[in-house]
Amino acid sequence: MVSQPVAEKLTPAAIFLVVTLTPDPRAGQAVRMLCGDLASLLRAIGFRQPDGRLSCVMGFGSDAWDRIFGHPRPANLHPFQEIRGEHHAVSTPGDLLFHIRAMQMDLCFELATQLMSRLGDSVASADEVHGFKYFDARDLLGFVDGTENPVDQDALEATIIGDEDPAFAGGSYVIVQKYLHDLKAWHAVPIEQQERIVGRKKLSDIELDDAAKPSYAHNVLTSIEENGEELEIVRDNMPFGDVAKGEFGTYFIGYARSPARIEQMLVNMFVGKPPGNYDRLLDFSTAVTGTLFFVPSATFLAEVPVDGVSVAPPAGDGDARDATPTHPPSPDGSLGIGSLKGEPAHE
Ligand code: HEM
Repeated sequence: MVSQPVAEKLTPAAIFLVVTLTPDPRAGQAVRMLCGDLASLLRAIGFRQPDGRLSCVMGFGSDAWDRIFGHPRPANLHPFQEIRGEHHAVSTPGDLLFHIRAMQMDLCFELATQLMSRLGDSVASADEVHGFKYFDARDLLGFVDGTENPVDQDALEATIIGDEDPAFAGGSYVIVQKYLHDLKAWHAVPIEQQERIVGRKKLSDIELDDAAKPSYAHNVLTSIEENGEELEIVRDNMPFGDVAKGEFGTYFIGYARSPARIEQMLVNMFVGKPPGNYDRLLDFSTAVTGTLFFVPSATFLAEVPVDGVSVAPPAGDGDARDATPTHPPSPDGSLGIGSLKGEPAHE
C-alpha cells in the first residue's frame, strides 16, 4: 500500500486548487479516469526537472466521494462543519482538492494546467491559490511557520490511517482554510505582544518559556493530547497575496489520520479553551474558506476503475450518482478492479 505524499517536506512553491463537480453526468467518470492517470502525469512533468520535487495530493470532499465512488466510504469523511465562536470558521464548497508542491512554480503551474484540461467541463473552479515561500519560511505576519511539524516516521504516524479503518488504510484527511490578514492592524501590535499571541520569538523563532506563554497563545491552543499522548498534524501553510488589492494571506493546510484532531484545534482557536480564551491571531486573520477532504492512498487512485465500471451507489440514493454501470465492492473493501488489482502503485 503506497500513500500519497501528504508528509512531503515543505517546498518553496505550491498551488492549492479546489474545484466543484458540475452536474455533467460524465463528471464522475472524468474524475475516475484522472485518478488512474495522475501518477503518469506527474512522471511526465516531473521528469523534465528531476530535482524539482513535483508532487500532488488529490483529495475528495464528502459529497463528491458518494458521487464518484459510492460505497464503501472512509469512516470519518464528512463535510467541514462551520464553527461559530469568538470568530467564525466558515464551511465552503469543494469536491476535489489538488495540493501541488514543487521547488519552482512552473512545475506546479504546468501540472495544474494539465489537470484542469483533463477535467474540462466536469469541474468548476471554487478557489485557486498560488503560495510562495517568504524568506525563511515565514508567514506574512512575519513569524516562521512550520517549525514544530513532525517529520519522517512521526509525520507518517500523525497523518496516515492504519488499522482504525482497514479498508482505507494508507489514506489521510486534510482540512484547508484560506485566511486573509489585516496587516495594518497586526503591525500596530507591539512585537512582544505578537510573540505572546504566537507563543514564539519573532526574529529567532525560539519558543517562549511556558511561564511567559499566555493560555491563549496559538501554540498552546493547538497543542492537544489524548491519554497523555500529543496528537499531531502535518501543516504546510503558505503565504499568498495580491499586493495591489491589499490582499495578504496564509493558506492553512493540515493533514491528519483523523479530522477530529484538526477540528479540536479549530474549536480551541475559534471558541477558545476554556470558551472565550480564543486565539488572538484570529483578531487579525479571517477564514474565508474551509473544506475537508479525504486523501485515499496512491494505490487506491491507481486502481480506480475507468470506462463504465463503478461501485454500486447505496440503495435509494442512486439518482445523485453518475450514470455508469455498477458492480459491488469486493469483500476486502477495495474497489476490486480486476485488471489492476495486486499491481504496484504507480509512483
Ligand atoms: C492564520 C492562520 C495561521 C497562522 C498564520 C499560523 C501560524 C503558526 C505559527 C507561526 C506557528 C509556530 C511555528 C510552528 O510550529 O509552525 C504555528 C504553529 C502551529 N499551528 Fe498554526 N497558524 C495558523 C492556523 C492554524 C490552524 C488553523 C491550525 C490547526 C487547526 C494550526 C495548528 C498549528 C499547530 C499544531 C502548531 C504547532 C504547535 C506546537 O506544537 O508548538 N495553525 N502556527
